[in-house]
Amino acid sequence: IKNLLSAGDLDRTDAIRILDTAEELLGVASRPIKKLPTLRGRTVVNLFFEDSTRTRISFEAAAKRLSADVINFSAKGSSVSKGESLKDTALTLQAMGADAVIIRHHSSGAPHRLAQARWTKGAVINAGDGTHEHPTQALLDAFTMRRHLVGSTGSDLAGKKITIVGDVLHSRVARSNALLLHTLGAHVTLVAPPTLLPVGVDHWPVETSYDLDASLEDADAVMMLRVQAERMNASYFPSAREYSRRYGLDTARLNRLPDHAIVMHPGPMNRGMEITADVADHVRSVIVEQVTNGVAVRMAVLYLLLGGAAGETEASEEGLS
Ligand code: CP
Repeated sequence: IKNLLSAGDLDRTDAIRILDTAEELLGVASRPIKKLPTLRGRTVVNLFFEDSTRTRISFEAAAKRLSADVINFSAKGSSVSKGESLKDTALTLQAMGADAVIIRHHSSGAPHRLAQARWTKGAVINAGDGTHEHPTQALLDAFTMRRHLVGSTGSDLAGKKITIVGDVLHSRVARSNALLLHTLGAHVTLVAPPTLLPVGVDHWPVETSYDLDASLEDADAVMMLRVQAERMNASYFPSAREYSRRYGLDTARLNRLPDHAIVMHPGPMNRGMEITADVADHVRSVIVEQVTNGVAVRMAVLYLLLGGAAGETEASEEGLS
């Protein structure tokens, strides 16, 4: 693939190649003292029109650990405040040279427009577009699940039961996870109040439920979603207390999960809303590990889009360096 716009663009082979490559790169991702020369002389642009901590910094870390040059663009403080368009911003950055553009934008479809209109010659990677998709988040989530629930490279998540809970309506993470987890053979249940499930969810490859307690009993992983207050209309959101009571993950609910099940959250978290602090910091929470894994997965995506020809990825960590 030339771009990574949607988790739905990945077939099983593509997805497993990314996860396996990330597995090879995890040592470098978590031991930043060691860099690989793979992308030396390449330029990666982080084009962020929306706030981010994890995605922007981990893409920057991933590119630098592959020896790429990184240009960080943030809409705040740029000529976007003077009305400059996405097209002119992209053309300006392209004029300085970009082998890859990692874009986060508040408008669903912006990365597709950037790629299809050829406003950049580089590979386009969707780092989150509106309420639509966040494919590298889904990849790092699948990578984390596979490490805990399966444990072997080359494998998918066949038969694993994943419960995704909360504000699905506004969640690009939920949509990308639903698509990728289905491709990898997992069974996904989305649990949310009726007002926080999107129109058209019946066409997603998932089951839906309004009953969190019933959906925890046989889950292999439970992923809590952030309540996106900034996108919320008060008329369809229950009170915070009511939401936490019915859809929050607390210690009592944690204890309903099978012993092997893991707790996930893409971050940033609303502690006390969708997840209690005790559960967020619990030994069964892999939330911090998801962040470390995100660097390895984003290294793998950059490596395969920019530097990796087919057949190169079997090299060991030492071989890659
Ligand atoms: N999970 C995620 O996308 O976090 P950021 O908004 O901090 O990048």
